[in-house]
Amino acid sequence: MSDTWWRNAVIYQIYPRSFADTNGDGVGDIAGITRRIGHLASLGVDAVWLSPFYPSPWADGGYDVADFRDVDPLLGTLADFDELVAAAHGHGIKVIVDIVPNHTSEQHPWFREALAAPPGSPARERYIFRDGRGPDGSLPPSNWESRFGGPAWTRLPDGQWYLHLFAREQPDLNWTNPEVRAEFVDILRFWSRRGVDGFRIDVANSLFKDLNEPLRDVVVIPKGSGLEDIAANPDHPHWDRPEVHEVYREWRQVFEEFDPPRVAVAEAWLPNDRLVRYLRPDELHQAFNFEFLRCPWDATAYRRVIDASIAFTASVGTVATWVLSNHDVVRPVSVLGLPTGTDLNAWLLSDGAEPPADVELGRRRARAAALLELALPGSTYVYQGEELGLPEVADLPAEVLQDPQWERTGHTAKGRDGCRVPIPWERSGPSLGFGQAPGWLPQPPGWAELSVEAQTGDPGSTLELYRTALRVRREFRADESFAWDEKYDEGDVLAFTRGEHVLVLVNTGSDPVTLPDAEVLVSSAPLSDGTLPADTAVWLRR
Ligand code: GLC
Ligand code: CA
Repeated sequence: MSDTWWRNAVIYQIYPRSFADTNGDGVGDIAGITRRIGHLASLGVDAVWLSPFYPSPWADGGYDVADFRDVDPLLGTLADFDELVAAAHGHGIKVIVDIVPNHTSEQHPWFREALAAPPGSPARERYIFRDGRGPDGSLPPSNWESRFGGPAWTRLPDGQWYLHLFAREQPDLNWTNPEVRAEFVDILRFWSRRGVDGFRIDVANSLFKDLNEPLRDVVVIPKGSGLEDIAANPDHPHWDRPEVHEVYREWRQVFEEFDPPRVAVAEAWLPNDRLVRYLRPDELHQAFNFEFLRCPWDATAYRRVIDASIAFTASVGTVATWVLSNHDVVRPVSVLGLPTGTDLNAWLLSDGAEPPADVELGRRRARAAALLELALPGSTYVYQGEELGLPEVADLPAEVLQDPQWERTGHTAKGRDGCRVPIPWERSGPSLGFGQAPGWLPQPPGWAELSVEAQTGDPGSTLELYRTALRVRREFRADESFAWDEKYDEGDVLAFTRGEHVLVLVNTGSDPVTLPDAEVLVSSAPLSDGTLPADTAVWLRR
């Protein structure tokens, strides 16, 4: 593969705790990924992105990192990691790891040192410690909120407060401190030397904060995503500060030290006009397309998002990405089976009862959406289980929930565990082939028939749809051209051409439409009488 492999790749996201467990402790591990590498090879993915596997107290599913240069003993060893990289590379699969630069775990040696050190000490300067407001300093230094609910500041017994944009266990680093900058450059080199091919940058739009005194309060948008926060606070004191770009320019030079150059994808919930700055030629290579992820099942909305995504990425010489889900969002099979605009948080709180999701409809649409995104020019990120058509597990009992949002919001947000349930590999066994014991979250009844084993060889299965689509996609993916088809693209039907010969149609409406006479390469549902049924996508060869 060339240096530009990432421009049209399919990248499979692994959430390691929930992928495959080899030692029967109920937690997925690195050796499990190696053992199951054949699945990824037969699926036909180009790369895997591993969510954090680093030593962690798991206060935020591993995104609270205590040591950025090791593997959590619960998940294995560095030797296991090296074996995984070798196995993946042996199958031509690249490996991308997750870099979490905004914060560390409270168990990181730096933070422990900071807690033991007095206010004003160099150890505290690696993080963001401030005195509180009010006569006795008992009010937080600003009204900033944690993304997981509650204040973004926690007070220590000595009276100072420290900043954490996420859980209390995730103190924010001070990115104006040269030591912090040097540390992350070193971490990037560490993993690059170990053979990783790229990095996913966690909350890439955070890092810097406007800490000029007095700290500025923000307009708080309850339960809003970063997108809504920015809309309400265009000069936001802690999202998307301009200084962050210097860091990515420096990192890009580090990536270029290696052969082939390492690549990076940004996680940044920002509007396109701001996101584009992270993708300038001397910064990061690509960014997740969250507008696409949030797009409702509506042709007009898709047209707008697709046009905008292609245009803004092309303006900086890169490609768009296409994303339906990840470890932070409700699975698309469920979302697309709910009425558009359903409050997903309220839905989760009702254990998925109010309103009930039409899973059959949702899966039908998710399969069509997969053919849509896999046909678009650029790269596609597939989250584990998406290829099996797994729905959200909305009714996990409160006792098993581990997402910090559940406690931090006083049980008003259930959080993201429902998309992190261990995936089913086989029809039987205590965790359906995930491991030799029940997994760390229970699998719902009915998942045996969604297992890799059950779907393999069944031409109507979601797994075989993905396998076919990934294989056929290789024929036209290198050609980045894209054009709406003048004849067929209309109303509820999306139609576009890719490469010289491929015509893609997606019917988001409720009536069947007549298909042109052409060879069917793959369709998301059976076609009948030369028509494309409702909620169905097809790739044709002209
Ligand atoms: C990112 C991760 C999410 C994590 C948060 C804090 O959004 O995807 O899982 O909780 O960053 O690190
Ligand atoms: Ca294990």
